[in-house]
Amino acid sequence: MKTILLAGGAGYIGSHTAVELLNSGYNVVVVDNYANSCPESIKRVEKITGKKVALYEADVKDKSKLEKIFSENKIDAVIHFAGLKAVGESVKMPVEYYRNNIDTTLSLLETMKKFNVGNIIFSSSATVYGEDNKVPYTEEMKRGTCTNPYGWTKVMMEQILEDTAKANPDMSVILLRYFNPIGAHESGMIGEDPQGIPNNLMPYVAQVAVGRRDHLTIYGNDYPTPDGTCRRDYIHVVDLAKGHVKAIDYVFTTKGVEIFNLGTGTPYSVTEIVTTFERVNNMKLKYEYGPRRQGDLPESYANADKAYRLLGWKTEKTLEDMCKDLWRWQSNNPNGYKK
Ligand code: NAD
Ligand code: UFG
Repeated sequence: MKTILLAGGAGYIGSHTAVELLNSGYNVVVVDNYANSCPESIKRVEKITGKKVALYEADVKDKSKLEKIFSENKIDAVIHFAGLKAVGESVKMPVEYYRNNIDTTLSLLETMKKFNVGNIIFSSSATVYGEDNKVPYTEEMKRGTCTNPYGWTKVMMEQILEDTAKANPDMSVILLRYFNPIGAHESGMIGEDPQGIPNNLMPYVAQVAVGRRDHLTIYGNDYPTPDGTCRRDYIHVVDLAKGHVKAIDYVFTTKGVEIFNLGTGTPYSVTEIVTTFERVNNMKLKYEYGPRRQGDLPESYANADKAYRLLGWKTEKTLEDMCKDLWRWQSNNPNGYKK
């Protein structure tokens, strides 16, 4: 049985991926410093799956801690989720973002080399397509110009991983470019639990629905889109997690670098999201239209053909599923993982 190390695995996408890996017969080791998560998510992963996770509290920048983990477990592949991800915060704290996101990557690569582990999957983002490319994005497009330090860390980490693979032909590196992950596991036991005021649309919608926020502001309704609000490629987090299992199966069969978009290929507008959430959950949300948010693109969506062609992966869940599952998680856990 192969063992996968999830760096940053207690977070939103990592915890959902842990469930799917365990259900597919992989062993899972998680390392997280709980900068944006808590150990409760992994307890719940164990409840959902009935399987144990080896859980380590450590900073992924800290090589001595990583070496202990690699010597106590025979790691076959790494999935690197560990990173800071708030776009607005990264503009205010660029040095912290570059330090954390790039150093975690370098420490992982150095430790992998020491322990002769050559397989890594990296959590990249559609943000690397930048402002210059045209939708739908395809993997061979050049990385574009980002509007914030968070995005640049993803561009730089992709470059670091590509250079490392070039210098080490036995390595297998997969860059997964996520579009907009939303929703939650259908059990309602794990989900997204942002600290403070959510930056992203869906956690904000869920907190308005549960009464933690008064109303949603929709940022701009004068974009060149069918209803004037921005369009994004929202993907159910369980579909995304299953994409990681396919990528893990694949990473053991190849060498070099492979890039995959993980999205549905279908964009929805902010207004469509809000009205779908209201309809499927049978409620009204208080919202108003406000000015545009700086740095937002009118449209971002994937061409997801390559992941289907090479990984045999495509999304299965609908926007209705995403909205229902998000509400199940939020209504069961109004304060997230806090009691
Ligand atoms: P998350 O914040 O829930 O998970 C990231 C995890 O990494 C957290 O548990 C955090 O505590 C941990 N972490 C951060 N720095 C660490 C460090 N130095 N040492 C150990 N652990 C550390 O975020 P997520 O939504 O699950 O995202 C996972 C990855 O996917 C991130 O790299 C993110 O940038 C990327 N991504 C997310 C989205 C999205 O919309 N959620 C989109 C594209 C890419
Ligand atoms: N939005 C609102 N009101 C809110 C929050 C968001 O109208 O309170 C709108 C935004 O203006 C945007 C859409 O909802 O039009 C989606 O915004 P999100 O912040 O949820 O997502 P983004 O597409 O801006 O960003 C996400 C991730 C980034 C990643 C990017 C591209 O948060 O990390 O996708 O992959 F870089």
